[in-house]
Amino acid sequence: MVLAGWGSTAAMITSAVSLGVAGDLRSPFILDEVLRLYPPSFMIGRTATGKSSEFPFKSGETLLISPWLIHRSSRAWASPLDFRPGRWADRVPGAAPGSLPFGLGPRRCPASRFARTQATVTGDLLSNLPRPQATEVTLLENRSPALSQRRDKPDSVPERDLSSIS
Ligand code: HEM
Repeated sequence: MVLAGWGSTAAMITSAVSLGVAGDLRSPFILDEVLRLYPPSFMIGRTATGKSSEFPFKSGETLLISPWLIHRSSRAWASPLDFRPGRWADRVPGAAPGSLPFGLGPRRCPASRFARTQATVTGDLLSNLPRPQATEVTLLENRSPALSQRRDKPDSVPERDLSSIS
């Protein structure tokens, strides 16, 4: 439990600090939007154990599901790369289509409520600190090289304008 929860909670808090919203984690929708744009579990792996007529996978094959990419899909979200907490006003966290920061199904994170409490308590502790300037570099470098720009294709990850975050 400790190993599963340590890094993901730290990544969630780091993302909030980097966005300059750590002190607002108790505010409605801020935490959901942090978890949408910067899901700590950016990749979930499974091994296919049998054949299915529904999916074209063979037994033994590795499947990778990326909350990071799903959360940034324009099929599920309007202006998916923008940090817009207000988009959660008409959505239910945990049941919104295109959102799976805590996974889905029987292996869904059993500690999602605990993690949310960790976030709000941390937000209270940090609420008096000065806001750092928002920086996406910190956010990406805390994740995997797979999420960073390719050197040979510098445009492969769209630039985001974080100046509007306050
Ligand atoms: C923001 C914080 C967290 C995020 C985003 C997160 C995310 C996830 C995700 C996506 C899974 C499913 C992985 C999969 O389907 O393979 C998972 C599983 C799990 N999480 Fe979390 N988690 C967080 C915090 C925590 C904390 C604080 C704990 C423990 C205190 C915890 C304990 C676990 C455990 C034990 C599992 C495995 C459940 C199983 O396999 O049945 N998580 N988490």
